This record gives sequence, C-alpha cells and structure tokens, in this order.
Amino acid sequence: MLDERLLEIICCPKCKCDLIYEEETKLTCNHCGLEYPLKNGIPVLLIEEAGQVRPELSIKSRHKHAIKQTFDAYGSSYDEVVHPYFSSRRREEIRKVVGGKILEVGCGPGTITKGLLDKHDVVAIDISQEMVNVVSQKYNIAGVVADAEALPFKPGTFDTVVSGEVIYYLNVPTSLLSESFRVLKQNGTAVISILSQNWVWVDKIRKWLGKRGMRVGYFDDCYDSTFYGHELIQMFKIAGFSDVRMQGIVFLPFAKLDSFNRLLEKSPFHKLAIGLVIWGTKK
Ligand SMILES: C[S@@+](CC[C@H](N)C(=O)[O-])C[C@H]1O[C@@H](n2cnc3c(N)ncnc32)[C@H](O)[C@@H]1O
Ligand SMILES: [Zn+2]
Repeated sequence: MLDERLLEIICCPKCKCDLIYEEETKLTCNHCGLEYPLKNGIPVLLIEEAGQVRPELSIKSRHKHAIKQTFDAYGSSYDEVVHPYFSSRRREEIRKVVGGKILEVGCGPGTITKGLLDKHDVVAIDISQEMVNVVSQKYNIAGVVADAEALPFKPGTFDTVVSGEVIYYLNVPTSLLSESFRVLKQNGTAVISILSQNWVWVDKIRKWLGKRGMRVGYFDDCYDSTFYGHELIQMFKIAGFSDVRMQGIVFLPFAKLDSFNRLLEKSPFHKLAIGLVIWGTKK
C-alpha cells in the first residue's frame, strides 16, 4: 500500500505534473505518460526506471546505476562502516538548522535521519531501493526511491531539505541545490554536509588501512574527490539561496579529541576541518 501521506506531495520527476494512483502496482503521470512502479508500497520515481529507455543506453544513467548498485549492496551495513564520531557530529550540526516538514535526500540507512525525527515530519529519499526499505521500516517514515537531480515533489512542499554526503555522486551537482530550492517553502532552509578538500589526505590513509582490514571509517564507493567550501557557497548562491553559512566540523576523527576539535572549529582554523556543513535560506 502506498503511504497516503505521500500522495499530496509527489509529482512526476520528469515533467513535475500530478501522478495518478489507480492501480496498486504503479503511479502514472497524466501529462507525459511515464509509469512508475511501486515496490513493496514504495514509489520508485526514477525517470530511468519508468520504462521508456533502458538505463544502460545512456552514460549518465549507467553512472547512476553503478552508484545505486554500490549502495544497494551496503544496505544497513553502511552504518557499521561509516565513522560513528563523524556521523554524530554531522547529525548534531544539521539538527541546529532544521525545522518543520523535512525532506532528506540520500538518506542511506538513516545515519542522519535518526537525528531528525523528534517533532519533525520527515520524508526520506534515496536512489537505492535497499536504503529506502531500511529507513522507512526502521523509522516508520514515508520513503521514496528518487533521484536528487530530479526530485518528485511539488514546489513549496518542505520547510527543510537535508542532504548528508550525497552531492559528490551527482552528474550535475548544482541540480541538488536548484531542486531543493524549488521544493522548499518561502523561508525554508537547505542544509548539506560534505567532506572537505582536507579530507583527501585522510581518505588516502583510510583506503590504505581499509585494504589492510580496518573496517570502521572505510567503505568503497569508488569516489575520491570533493568540493572546496567556497565552491559550495557559490553553488548555493547561484541556486538562489540567501544567508549562506558554512561550519567546519571535525579535524581529527576521534571521539576522544572532541573538545579539541570543538575548540578548533571556533577558531580561524575552522577552514582546515575535514567536514563541512553548509546551509542557506530561500528568501
Ligand atoms: C555516502 S551515503 C550518505 C548517507 C547518509 N546521508 C549520511 O550522511 O551518512 C550517500 C547516499 O546517497 C545516495 N545517492 C547517491 N546518488 C544519489 C542520487 N542521485 N539521488 C539520491 N540518492 C543518491 C546513495 O544511495 C547513498 O545512500
Ligand atoms: Zn510526467
């Protein structure tokens, strides 16, 4: 059964028109005619999977398909391999700027989601069906399999859009921000977290240790580049956001050094942090 809470807010990711729910197994766009399947009651609102063109025929779709497969394979075990201290610090900073009705983009197995649930209404999306299954069952929230680059939601639906560690995987990273801007209400906030350029050296050590058996903090997503903070700020502004802010988090990824990390975060050295949280308002 489709979660009734979703029917009022979803739309066709391609043409953004209404979807018709006549049969238990699919949603149909009454404008472009694309048919989107429902798998275990979860809408799969991916243009590539709407039965027009086979995904393997396009290079961009092939890239997405590979990412989807990588994260489908991780499922809930992703949470066991990501660094717990880094995750809890990201959750803490993101929580400071969220409110109201929240869309979480690229929820994974709920690493950030679990910090958003109290008093908030959360809809979670991910390109990986496995991740959406895990999160919607674990937290009893509405989940949709969807692409950050083509959000299947009507304009002005959410108060906050949250996205942790997702923007690197996109063909057109700015589309996450322009799509977030579109689905936000007036005065709504988009907040994302990324690993900064300073992460690159940590990543080399992490990969070296990972190949020698270290599990925590290591997962192989075949990706090894990221953005500078100033690039992200610019991307937020180009998408239309105002009051764009950035906070550096975590210098040394050890919970025992928490107080030291927090001291540095408040100092002029904050730009040397390995994690960044960036947010802006739709005025
Ligand atoms: C590194 S994990 C981050 C998980 C969690 N948000 C966190 O902060 O730890 C990246 C997640 O983004 C999802 N993802 C990758 N490309 C996506 C896309 N185009 N649209 C939606 N989700 C995507 C992956 O399936 C994966 O669950
Ligand atoms: Zn359509």
